[in-house]
Amino acid sequence: MYPGAADALARGAKEAGAILWYGMAEEAEIGRLAGYGAPMIEIIKPYTDREMIYRKIRHAEELGLLAVGIDIDHPFADDGSPDIVSGHEMTALKTAELREICRDTRLPVIIKGVLSVRDAERCLEAGAQGLVLSHHNNRIEYALPPMALLPEIVEMTGGKVPLFVDCEIKTGMDAFKALALGAKGVCIGRPLMTAIKQDLEHGVRDYLLKATAELKKAMAFTGCTTLETMDPTVIHRI
Ligand SMILES: Cc1cc2nc3c(=O)[nH]c(=O)nc-3n(C[C@H](O)[C@H](O)[C@H](O)COP(=O)(O)O)c2cc1C
Repeated sequence: MYPGAADALARGAKEAGAILWYGMAEEAEIGRLAGYGAPMIEIIKPYTDREMIYRKIRHAEELGLLAVGIDIDHPFADDGSPDIVSGHEMTALKTAELREICRDTRLPVIIKGVLSVRDAERCLEAGAQGLVLSHHNNRIEYALPPMALLPEIVEMTGGKVPLFVDCEIKTGMDAFKALALGAKGVCIGRPLMTAIKQDLEHGVRDYLLKATAELKKAMAFTGCTTLETMDPTVIHRI
C-alpha cells in the first residue's frame, strides 16, 4: 500500500457511498479508518493466535462496524507451509472453529475465499451470514474465476445468505453480470490501488462513481428497475 493509501481508500469509499472492506491492520488504524464514516467490514485473517481473532472481533463490535469477515484462503505460503503475514503466523480454520466465531459475536460474520459448493456448505454449517467468492487475487493459481462459480453457489445457498464476488471485477458491467447471476454485491481491490496512485481519495471516488454509472446504465437498458428484479435472463452465455 502507498503512504496514505488506506485513508484515501476510506475517504473515497465514503464519498462514493461504498462499503469499506479492510483487513490486516492494527486496531488503531481500523478505528481511524472507520472514523471517516463509510460503513466498514473488517476482514480478519486466520491468525494461528486465535485469541487475536477474538480480540479484533471485540474491537469491531465496539466500533460498531457493519460486519466482520474471516478470510479462509490465506493460511498457506507458496510451499504449503503456514504463511507468515506481517510477522503473524496463519493456520487454516476448521469448520468447528468458524462455528465458534460465528456464535461468539452479534455482528454478522462473512467468510471470504469461498471457491466451491462444498466450501459454501461448510460455511453455512458454521453459521456464516455472508460469503465472498474469491481466490484472493490469484493466491490460488489456476482457480476458476469466482464469477464462474456463482450460479452453482447461488443454487446451493438458495438466498439464505448474501453472496459477494471479487477478483477481476473492474467495471460496472462486471458488477452487472455478477448481480444478474445472483450476487448481492461485488468487491474491487487492485483497480482502487491504481486509482489511489492517480488521485488519492478523489481517484477512488471517481472510479467507484464511474463503475456505478455503468451499472445503472446497463440496468436501465435491460429494464432492471431494482437490484431485486435482476436475474440471469439479462445476460447471455457465449
Ligand atoms: C493492497 C491489497 C491488500 C489486500 N489485503 C487483503 C487482506 O488483508 N485480506 C483479504 O482477505 N484480502 C486482501 N486483499 C485481497 C482483496 O480483498 C481481493 O480478494 C483481491 O484483491 C481480488 O480482487 P481484485 O482483482 O479486485 O484485486 C488485498 C488486496 C490488495 C490489492
